[in-house]
Amino acid sequence: MTGCDRLNYKIYKYESLDSTNTKAKELALRGAGEATLVICEEQTRGRGRMGRSWTSTKGKDLLFSIILKPKLEFGELQRIILAAAVAVNRALKDLGIESQIKWPNDIIIGGKKVAGILMETSTSGDKTKHVILGIGINVNQDREDIPDELKDKSISLKLVSKREIDREELLDYLLVRIKESYLAVKNRVDMEELLKAYKENSSLTGREVMVLQGKARPRRGTAIDIGINGELVVRFPEGVEKISYGEVSIRGIDGYT
Ligand code: BTN
Repeated sequence: MTGCDRLNYKIYKYESLDSTNTKAKELALRGAGEATLVICEEQTRGRGRMGRSWTSTKGKDLLFSIILKPKLEFGELQRIILAAAVAVNRALKDLGIESQIKWPNDIIIGGKKVAGILMETSTSGDKTKHVILGIGINVNQDREDIPDELKDKSISLKLVSKREIDREELLDYLLVRIKESYLAVKNRVDMEELLKAYKENSSLTGREVMVLQGKARPRRGTAIDIGINGELVVRFPEGVEKISYGEVSIRGIDGYT
């Protein structure tokens, strides 16, 4: 393990971890400060949203988590996801790669996922102790690295751009973009600009969607907007609603994908 500073991040690099989110949480509980970043070459138990696992290929992807300590109300915490999604989208653009944001926090290219964001919060009463922001990007995976069951849903930057990506360069762009977006949320400045960037790159706006929330029956509607706290605004036959959690499928050629 080595520790070094890049901007005001304190970076801890590991060869192999079960999950960078788990390691970052452990460090936060031991008093690690804001902007502590944990990155590794391989995750043995990478975690995704909704209890799913996150698969990656050793030495080919970017897998990292950052400890954040924002003073935000509980309802505002989703803004961090919004900020992170915009940051990843912008960092890819810095690299010359166009992507879209699929609410709430998937980064997609040509309808396939290239990056995911997992935010885990630790609260005490109504206070946020810390937030762990975990980001996984499929960078240089080849076709055979992607598990068969994910081949029609996932893609890597290398596969879309047809070139090997310099992971260090991408990480540099990401760290600058994350800092910029996160500070906008934390300091409550430029939130409108961030929201505008999210909306401009959102893959859902104007699309017919299927909304899945827990055990409730799936509901069909049209995504019409994104709220300031990162909610998806959907027009259902029974009226307009702000959706703050759940999964959304887009109406595709073969139904909802
Ligand atoms: C998702 O789309 O479901 C979120 C995936 C988040 C994956 C990243 S990889 C780095 C960090 N460590 C984890 O265990 N998960 C996140």
